[in-house]
Amino acid sequence: MRAQCIAVPMITWSASQYVRFEDERGRAAAELLARVPLVAPRLVVDLGCGPGNSTELLVGRWPSAEVAGLDASPDMLAAARKRLPGLAFLAEDVGVWMPSGAEDLLFANAVLHWVPNHLGVMVRLLAALRPGAVLAVQMPDNLAEPSHRAMVETAADGPWRDLLRDAAAARQLLPPPEAYYDALAPLSAMVDIWHTVYNIPLDGAEAVVAWMEGAGLRPFLEPLDAAARADYLTAYTRRVATAYPPRSDGKVLLRFPRLFVVAVRC
Ligand SMILES: C[S@@+](CC[C@H](N)C(=O)[O-])C[C@H]1O[C@@H](n2cnc3c(N)ncnc32)[C@H](O)[C@@H]1O
Repeated sequence: MRAQCIAVPMITWSASQYVRFEDERGRAAAELLARVPLVAPRLVVDLGCGPGNSTELLVGRWPSAEVAGLDASPDMLAAARKRLPGLAFLAEDVGVWMPSGAEDLLFANAVLHWVPNHLGVMVRLLAALRPGAVLAVQMPDNLAEPSHRAMVETAADGPWRDLLRDAAAARQLLPPPEAYYDALAPLSAMVDIWHTVYNIPLDGAEAVVAWMEGAGLRPFLEPLDAAARADYLTAYTRRVATAYPPRSDGKVLLRFPRLFVVAVRC
């Protein structure tokens, strides 16, 4: 696969923070992969491959396929290359990247919700594929959850208010399943859409915050200096502790809805 230069104004990702909850996050990628109806694909591309965790699943299922990963974060790409040294990991903005048409599978786990106009991007990617090839996408559908409402409320309630005015704009509410279906069905032999709501036991409010620091909180933390960041996290943790009270064993349950879409090109 060919590499190209990218200039994407986007948030900074930390591979080490992201992999702290790799097992829990990996379950959605595995469940998305389980619904991909391909037997022996030759070229598989992991869009927004992160530290290579989703890429590793793809290699595990199809060891004979050529598998490549694309990501916009240098830190994530470095982690992915270390994890899977034999594979190509390329710096690309998924929002503008064009498939060659030779791909059998475009796999995008937990990335497209960060990409502006992601539904338009999905249509463009699917349209570029050949008949029988698959676009498989999973996105958190959790902006209405207390974990994310607390980010916005904390942003509006502190000395960082002006700095964080645009933080919530990094993500938009996902459109309803019908919108994905209507946009993808004309290009597809099959469109499979489902939601799964995970209820993840975590070791208290601090663990919920640590999880969010790996992804959802990043646009809220990035504009702040170290001191403001610490204060924001303290205020956010207080809200999270109220929203996620301890269960019978002392753990908290993080409700986490995710949307899955698998489309086979006609
Ligand atoms: C939450 S991680 C997902 C990693 C992995 N796919 C997984 O299943 O856990 C999201 C990744 O998407 C990448 N990303 C976000 N926007 C992107 C874009 N426009 N182009 C390419 N990568 C992007 C981030 O750098 C990050 O590595």
